[in-house]
Amino acid sequence: MLRYMRWFIVLSLLLILRMIPTGRAGAAASGKLEIFSWWTAGGEAEGLAGMFSAYKRLYPGVEILNATVAGGAGTNAKAVLATRLTGGDPPDSFQVHAGLEVQKYEPARFLEPLDELFKSEGWEKVLPSGLLTLLRYQGRFWSVPVNIHRANVMWYSKKVFAANNLTPPKTFAEFFSVAEALKAKGIVPFVLGDKEGWEAAHVFEAVLIGTLGAEGYRGLWTGKTLWTDARVTQALNTFKRMLTYTNTDHAALVWSEAGQYLIDGKGAMQIMGDWQDGWFQSKKYADYGWAPPPGNAGIFDALSDSFAMPKGAKNRQNALNWLKVSGSKAGQEAFNPKKGSICARTDCNQALFNAYLQSAARDWQKDALVPSPVHGAAVIESWTTKYNNIMALFVTSGDVAKTQAALQAACKDAGVCKQ
Ligand code: GAL
Repeated sequence: MLRYMRWFIVLSLLLILRMIPTGRAGAAASGKLEIFSWWTAGGEAEGLAGMFSAYKRLYPGVEILNATVAGGAGTNAKAVLATRLTGGDPPDSFQVHAGLEVQKYEPARFLEPLDELFKSEGWEKVLPSGLLTLLRYQGRFWSVPVNIHRANVMWYSKKVFAANNLTPPKTFAEFFSVAEALKAKGIVPFVLGDKEGWEAAHVFEAVLIGTLGAEGYRGLWTGKTLWTDARVTQALNTFKRMLTYTNTDHAALVWSEAGQYLIDGKGAMQIMGDWQDGWFQSKKYADYGWAPPPGNAGIFDALSDSFAMPKGAKNRQNALNWLKVSGSKAGQEAFNPKKGSICARTDCNQALFNAYLQSAARDWQKDALVPSPVHGAAVIESWTTKYNNIMALFVTSGDVAKTQAALQAACKDAGVCKQ
């Protein structure tokens, strides 16, 4: 009996020893992993590098190819990606916004559904239900969310505001009186960089929110609010007036370059998503303040970056592991503090985040959430493109009536507005 017991113990030990290397399968992973994104600016690049490090800790033998196509909001990347997917040359995993943006990549044809992975990783328990709803397209999950970004933030130079005895404007009327005071001092009141063609549309989201409120704004993207509404006319007129307070070189600058005005103390306010927080950090600039844009208090204009896996990924297992890291606590804690976003997961350690991001995490819990069309959450990509182009044109034309009619037509083309 004792002899059998001994054998049993020896065999069990052998079995356990055999299982250890299996448990550390990551150490054995090798080959390549091509990750496609548009994260090249300060903050974005550091965040991505952080997540690469989290991956490398688990899979040191895998060589990561950082396939980026520069251009904020995916201006250039999305077209390159579509060509690669249809041409049968997909990257192993790619960045896509949570929401209707995924429709552009014909998921049923080109992407692997990830419902099994969501189940095995337990993500449905650690992701907010609103985000899970946003991620489901045609009833399935196609991508793994890494963060939540806020689009409607007004960044300001604390130094400029203090030196001029001003406080951040809460209403559009206050915005214009603050802007006048700053202009008189030779400071650019409202900083803009709209070189890439999406930025005016981005800022206009905040103006629409500030004019129509959460409910009215949401309705613009679902057909409940008409684009012919008098409040849209009002928002366009407000935006037109705001544009008279911008830097003259706005068309030559991208979003991050415009932020330099704040760093230099030459500009006072900029409306941009909270990737600007990541960029400021990368520039070691700490003297910035943040506030909701006029009329935006209590409303969180949300979007989420996520990673998808194409069918026929050359390094499928490595890509699967990338998705696991993307959805993990460790991955998100390595990525978000640098990226200027909060975790998509609800269990990240807040102590890792700076004061702005901690405030964003609190707002995310209590604010009214509305989706961003420029960043893929609210509408299909063809509507995003039209909306961006219409608003880019508005910056130079200033034609309110024509712009409003074009916005209405774009909604109709998308099949959302009836007339
Ligand atoms: C957004 C994206 C952010 C940030 C920004 C500027 O579309 O969700 O992560 O990269 O563009 O490039």
